[in-house]
Amino acid sequence: MMTACGGGDAANAGPPGAPTLEKETSSSEAASSSGKAKLLTDADVTLGDIDNGMVEKGKTTYDVKCQACHSMGENRVVGPGWKGITTRRKPEWIMNMIVNTDAMLAEDPEAQRQLEQCLVRMPNQNLSMDEARQVLEFMRTL
Ligand code: HEC
Repeated sequence: MMTACGGGDAANAGPPGAPTLEKETSSSEAASSSGKAKLLTDADVTLGDIDNGMVEKGKTTYDVKCQACHSMGENRVVGPGWKGITTRRKPEWIMNMIVNTDAMLAEDPEAQRQLEQCLVRMPNQNLSMDEARQVLEFMRTL
């Protein structure tokens, strides 16, 4: 298993002409079959200066629900480490991965590629939108 599922360079380069989340047509179908809302777009996630209160809460959620599979460093546990994740992934992509996990694994090429490398499906952790946003804030500090 080469670079495993850590993302890194491969994720930056990306496959040429990879489809983006903007393609809405077929996605609503797949999403509704798993009972999930439509995927978030960049208009749904706004980043400002780092909010330390949110970081704290995000860290707590991480400790309870994510730590078993994700490290704060670069190393993979079950899923990829989170160090620098916000430089590799768009905020809305990360949010979708957290709250629309099944839809992402069903239709997002990057999420699917990662699944192939990790061989484990990330389970939906049933976070609220607020909790997911707090985890994203925490990720920004890594
Ligand atoms: C049972 C193990 C497991 C747990 C618990 C888990 N994940 Fe994951 N996660 C994975 C695996 C495996 C992948 C990569 C494969 C995939 O896409 O399914 C992944 C991928 C991700 C990604 C994409 C990472 C990247 O580098 O592109 C994000 C973001 C993520 N998880 C967030 C979370 C959050 C937030 C939590 C806690 C609320 C969480 N995960 C809990 C296993 C887990």
